[in-house]
Amino acid sequence: MSKCIISPSVLASDLSKLSSECQRMIDNGCDWLHMDVMDGNFVPNITMGAPILTWVKKNVPEIFMDCHMMVADPAKWVPEVAKAGGKSYTFHYEATSDPEGVISLIKQHDMLVGLAISPETPASVITESLGNAVDMLLVMTVRPGHGGQKFMPECLEKVKELRERFPGKNIQVDGGVGSGNACQCARAGSNVLVAGTAIFGAEDPKKTIQEMRSTVDQ
Ligand code: DX5
Ligand code: ZN
Repeated sequence: MSKCIISPSVLASDLSKLSSECQRMIDNGCDWLHMDVMDGNFVPNITMGAPILTWVKKNVPEIFMDCHMMVADPAKWVPEVAKAGGKSYTFHYEATSDPEGVISLIKQHDMLVGLAISPETPASVITESLGNAVDMLLVMTVRPGHGGQKFMPECLEKVKELRERFPGKNIQVDGGVGSGNACQCARAGSNVLVAGTAIFGAEDPKKTIQEMRSTVDQ
């Protein structure tokens, strides 16, 4: 199994002090920070863009920014996010008719590539060549757009299928994930867990991160 990675979603943080919220999670032992970029177009919500990511990277140089791009034109933001210090750039299969083109653009900009599918999208759209071209597959376990939604366990079937087809890839789950269902996610084959409400809303985030990690590493 690939290494367990815990990536708290900043959507559930106090966004008015984003840098210190990210630092707090690093101090609590997370691996990555999941930066939810929404453009009010691909999803009905607006969060942040490259100018904010730039400041976070300046203030927290050691951060690994796992950028989840919920945007209608994923190619458009690649250069800016790379310049801002994004490490990993995950775009939605549903947002483009040219996933191969977006993948090569991300690679040209020296970022890791993630490919996301929303709950209504079957895993079969990820062909062998697409799956092999990316570093990470993201299976959404809620409809993208808002934090704090209920986990959709039926999406884990797709995680299982993708884990069988792509044994060496990072497989991320995002939406309604926490200590209570981390085990289910890990059993299905996910090794990268995103959690917003469950970690930022926890009284002791360090404990929650440790619990989630030990479930995956079991
Ligand atoms: C949803 C976002 C998720 C979300 C996760 O559109 O992509 O990253 O913020 O938050 P929780 O864990 O609260 O569902
Ligand atoms: Zn996300």
